[in-house]
Amino acid sequence: MRLKDKVTIITGGGHGLGKAYARRFAGEGAQVVIADVDGAAGEAVAEELNRAGHAGWARTTDVTEYDSIEGLMAGTLERFGRIDVLLNNAAIYVTQKMWMGRVEDCPLDEWDRVLEVNLKGVFMCCRAAIPVMKRQKSGKIINIASGTFLNGTSNMPHYTSSKGGVVALTRVMARQLGDWNINVNCMTPGSTMSEEVVTEDVRKRRADSAGRRAFKRVEVPEDVTGTALFLASADSDFMTGQLLVVEGGGIIH
Ligand SMILES: NC(=O)c1ccc[n+]([C@@H]2O[C@H](COP(=O)([O-])OP(=O)(O)OC[C@H]3O[C@@H](n4cnc5c(N)ncnc54)[C@H](O)[C@@H]3O)[C@@H](O)[C@H]2O)c1
Repeated sequence: MRLKDKVTIITGGGHGLGKAYARRFAGEGAQVVIADVDGAAGEAVAEELNRAGHAGWARTTDVTEYDSIEGLMAGTLERFGRIDVLLNNAAIYVTQKMWMGRVEDCPLDEWDRVLEVNLKGVFMCCRAAIPVMKRQKSGKIINIASGTFLNGTSNMPHYTSSKGGVVALTRVMARQLGDWNINVNCMTPGSTMSEEVVTEDVRKRRADSAGRRAFKRVEVPEDVTGTALFLASADSDFMTGQLLVVEGGGIIH
């Protein structure tokens, strides 16, 4: 029970990797707030956790709307009285389809759409949670980046840039928040078979990534939840501003 009674917000917790973090954290005793723009998916995860005897609560949240984020923070405080962990996982990636291609072809509005969720959404969730954590003089912020940023993966320039921004923001916030005992770290899963529809193209992409790894197999959500748990728990109390790469040794960083 490494997160016993810790109040944890997981953005994008309704699907894929976010759902896996929610299950793992709840199993470790956390009170998990699932903050997804897909309210029905968030409710389904909360119900599943509660049926299993854990504590889950869904709060429909759009991380591109500051009012919605403020409602999430206020609702969490009203219900649980504090915010111990903020896991910024929501992104445009699988559940909400993303355009792919070259920089010179990238539609301008598609660039904005992805940056709005993947980078500005992280910034706004942190902006709203930091005052609460400062008052508590404690807190853990975990941001989800991506190996695409380290690789320079070439077919999703907006996504890759947004994740580079998440790493930069993590480092800035780590330096700013140490005096309040707030840890800010980020981690990156590798190419992971999450909740997507497995087409031939998806299967090939995941298999190609597996082939480049030290551990030559397809990554699954359960491969990354232990690292998130470490970053959320007291075991990482003296660690801040870091990026942990959890992808089987394809990138050695
Ligand atoms: N699966 C991978 O291969 C992989 C690799 C590296 C990093 N990541 C990162 O891990 C995280 C989860 O990825 P996933 O594979 O589970 O993808 P996913 O698309 O299934 O999950 C993203 C979640 O964010 C939610 N979301 C989207 N827009 C939102 C908004 N405006 N407000 C609130 N919630 C919103 C979606 O509903 C979904 O539940 C993402 O940050 C992704 O960039 C994934």
